[in-house]
Amino acid sequence: MSENLLNNTNSEYSINIINSKETYPVRHPILRAGKPIESCVFDGDDFETTIHLGLFSKNKLIGISTFLEKNNSSFSETKQYQLRGMAILKEFQGKNLGNLILKEGESLLKKKDVEIVWCNAREVALNFYKRNNYKIIGNSFNIKDIGLHYTMFKML
Ligand SMILES: CC(C)(COP(=O)(O)OP(=O)(O)OC[C@H]1O[C@@H](n2cnc3c(N)ncnc32)[C@H](O)[C@@H]1OP(=O)(O)O)[C@@H](O)C(=O)NCCC(=O)NCCS
Repeated sequence: MSENLLNNTNSEYSINIINSKETYPVRHPILRAGKPIESCVFDGDDFETTIHLGLFSKNKLIGISTFLEKNNSSFSETKQYQLRGMAILKEFQGKNLGNLILKEGESLLKKKDVEIVWCNAREVALNFYKRNNYKIIGNSFNIKDIGLHYTMFKML
């Protein structure tokens, strides 16, 4: 496994770069519950430009996020990334740990000169993204089997 990206050798939490399959133990129960494991595969998961972050408590994976180089025509910036698969295991939700992994991802993207990060946010996650200074663009839309979403973005 890669080195801890957090500057916190004393904390119980660490963040590491992981591969796409390593996200499944969180992607599956939290984002694709009751669906086949194949539903955990995202387009572009294994592109060289894609970054998967894993948040660990001791050695247990408890949170994930994926950042994919992908342009959305709502934005004019040339260097855009999409945030997908943001999830924290249920028993660890509501402890601000989502912020930790999101901030780390944004900081990695900034170093790659990415100008804007955007996501299709589930309605239940709107407040989480708003607290992290993401703004809504456009109207809500439905994604089959998952529900209402909003496109949200943040300039880096
Ligand atoms: C969205 C998510 C990544 C946020 O991460 P987090 O670390 O839980 O974020 P926070 O600690 O800031 O809290 C999130 C919410 O949980 C609430 N909460 C508080 N205590 C809680 C508890 N014991 N258990 C669960 N949620 C709790 C908070 O009030 C907050 O609600 P709000 O965002 O509506 O204001 C995480 O909750 C999650 O994985 N949700 C399910 C998957 C999902 O929807 N992902 C986003 C896809 S776009």
